[in-house]
Amino acid sequence: MTLSPDGVPNIHDFARVVFFTGAGMSAESGVPTYRGKGGIWKEYDWESYACQEAFDAEPQRVWDFHNYRRGIVGKCAPNKGHELIAAAEKKLPHVVVVTQNIDGLHQLAGTKTVHELHGNLWKLRCSRCGARKMDRSAPLADVKCSCGEWWRPDIVWFGDALFPSVIDAVAEAMDDCDLLVSIGTSAVVYPAAQMPLIAKRAGATLVEINPEDTPMSEVFDVRLRGTATEMLTKMSWGL
Ligand code: OAD
Repeated sequence: MTLSPDGVPNIHDFARVVFFTGAGMSAESGVPTYRGKGGIWKEYDWESYACQEAFDAEPQRVWDFHNYRRGIVGKCAPNKGHELIAAAEKKLPHVVVVTQNIDGLHQLAGTKTVHELHGNLWKLRCSRCGARKMDRSAPLADVKCSCGEWWRPDIVWFGDALFPSVIDAVAEAMDDCDLLVSIGTSAVVYPAAQMPLIAKRAGATLVEINPEDTPMSEVFDVRLRGTATEMLTKMSWGL
């Protein structure tokens, strides 16, 4: 592995790369994180806005919250970090993005292989008739499905299980990479937080990009203390 003078590995040195991203990846696009300064869960308690029980009790209140988020995220564009990851996917033999983010910014930047562990803010599903659709309106123009049921945001709320097909794809990607780059996650939400351990067990090099230490920091071979755009730029010479 080639290291730059300040100890940063080059993504170019690896053939099979997984980028594992959290809210910090999109912070420089203007999407608020969940925890820390300005975090969403400081202002909104998830028990009232982000779980099935809240939706069953007061669907309109839960939709007001998700429409508020649609309004913010809809104005945000991918940042340089998202773009560097999309460029890496074009250049390197095998690149997979595993994201906890629901904002869709990796796809907007042009990345093709994105596994969304927690779903997508722009996708909807109907719990009654099973319909699904993508709708980027903000606020959502019609909160009811044609069968009369409320659309439900197709995202993983607190207490929901992850989508089994996504878990399988993520486990396979983690097991099959040479380099795992974790970017902007506080690593406190399970089971997502422990997924880099699959890559670790499989012998991959693990890099963590975050301005702060996290509870998982010690499992990473290289810890880069800085922002997503700053550190991905440093890791991308030659891309
Ligand atoms: P958090 O909000 O918990 O953590 C954001 C992390 O990003 C923190 O560790 C920050 O230090 C870091 N950070 C902030 N700005 C950054 C920047 N410019 N560059 C790099 N890192 C930066 O977000 P997640 O870990 O993604 O789940 O949260 C995990 C899950 O908790 C979310 O997917 C969501 C939430 O509840 C659901 O809603 C199901």
